[in-house]
Amino acid sequence: MTIELRSVTDSNFTEWRKAVRHGFGQHVHPDDIARLRNDRAELDRLIAAVDTSSERIVGTGGADSYSLTLPGGATVPMAGVAYMTTSVTHRRQGAFSRMMSKIHDEARERGDIVSGLWASQSHLYSRFDYGLAVNSYDWEIDPSFGAFSHSPIDPGEESDAHVYFVDADEAAAMLPGIYAQMHEQTIGSVNRNEGRWRYELFDEERVRGGGSPLFFAICEEAGEQTGYVAYRMHRIGDSDMGTLEVVEQVSITDTAHATMWRFLLNFDLVGKITAVNRPSDDPLWWMLSDPRRLSRTSHDALWVRLLDIPKALEARTYNADGCVKIGLISESQPEIAGTYVLEIDDSQGSVKKTTDKPDVVMTPADLSAIYLGGVTPEPLVEAGRIDAITTGSVAKLHGMFSTDSAPWCAHYF
Ligand SMILES: CC(C)(COP(=O)(O)OP(=O)(O)OC[C@H]1O[C@@H](n2cnc3c(N)ncnc32)[C@H](O)[C@@H]1OP(=O)(O)O)[C@@H](O)C(=O)NCCC(=O)NCCS
Repeated sequence: MTIELRSVTDSNFTEWRKAVRHGFGQHVHPDDIARLRNDRAELDRLIAAVDTSSERIVGTGGADSYSLTLPGGATVPMAGVAYMTTSVTHRRQGAFSRMMSKIHDEARERGDIVSGLWASQSHLYSRFDYGLAVNSYDWEIDPSFGAFSHSPIDPGEESDAHVYFVDADEAAAMLPGIYAQMHEQTIGSVNRNEGRWRYELFDEERVRGGGSPLFFAICEEAGEQTGYVAYRMHRIGDSDMGTLEVVEQVSITDTAHATMWRFLLNFDLVGKITAVNRPSDDPLWWMLSDPRRLSRTSHDALWVRLLDIPKALEARTYNADGCVKIGLISESQPEIAGTYVLEIDDSQGSVKKTTDKPDVVMTPADLSAIYLGGVTPEPLVEAGRIDAITTGSVAKLHGMFSTDSAPWCAHYF
């Protein structure tokens, strides 16, 4: 039996989409095929692994095109890896590994500087040199414990920030602009194009998980839209009490954040508010008078792989000037192994290879983990992942790579 990697075209797209869904234990809805095709999929970035003896698709993979915001505000093209499955009938024969290699090679040819993904299983991607660069929290809180002890809105000051409800059509027109501003100012965030917005705002009954259709509210300050929330209500049995599920909340100012969460925590007949994928440095915990009531479950969010090490390191800015020699060891990419001198001058990095002895030695996965500033090198040293060769090198690395805010990827793919 041979597994061949082939292109995905309009003629095999339906079979490919069914195979993706089967890989995740789901059936496909006919609408889902058209929606993915029209609003999201880039056919020339998709791969079908075909068993040549049956001519059936037994593996799927691909990437969506994104731009990723880096420390300093630059954005770089990113291959957003997704759709990775191998049929249970063809597991452990290397299909997944071959598809990952092809995705990376093609992404590099297109000029992508990094690739990124959300992992269904956290042990799968280190072997392909991905590092966990962004963490986030899922929240739960009983709003009756939602009193603030602190807020960026001074109680003595008049704030003109206010929240109003909008319908789904108005939301479709307003949310992208607010999201785009968040993307510009948030390390680790990715863009959403028009198609992707349609895909995200799809709100038929079958995607609601038993909840209501989406509600939308906007925060406005001085005539500018500075925040939004999309949420659903889940009623408990016949009772009027329910759970408010925050599907997405984005704010581009501290005032919008405080105003939006004051609004959300003020609902009557809500026993619980849940919110997924909140930033790891979100200030809400510090604003609550009884912060332990905000239960936070941490999880891995965006995994990153540097596809072009010098270009990726030169694209971001740094927090401290100096020079560090980074030794990279890689079983999967022996061609990139070696020592890289990262010289920072006036916050900008320049990179060249050297035959000098390195200050620190790590894998590309570890470099990718610290790349966005959300992970500091010290725990990776303590975990035996990064080797500190010269004295003070880890503190230097920390000073250079650290950022003022934690990365956040609001968009799941
Ligand atoms: C994960 C998955 C894609 C792997 O496919 P596959 O074709 O069997 O993977 P490969 O044969 O290329 O294996 C690659 C390596 O990963 C390892 N691996 C893959 N899946 C693994 C798992 N679930 N547990 C442990 N190791 C695993 C293999 O042992 C192999 O390691 P090796 O190179 O050291 O031998 C497949 O099991 C699957 O479809 N799972 C369900 C969907 C899913 O989780 N997709 C990932 C989306 S983020």
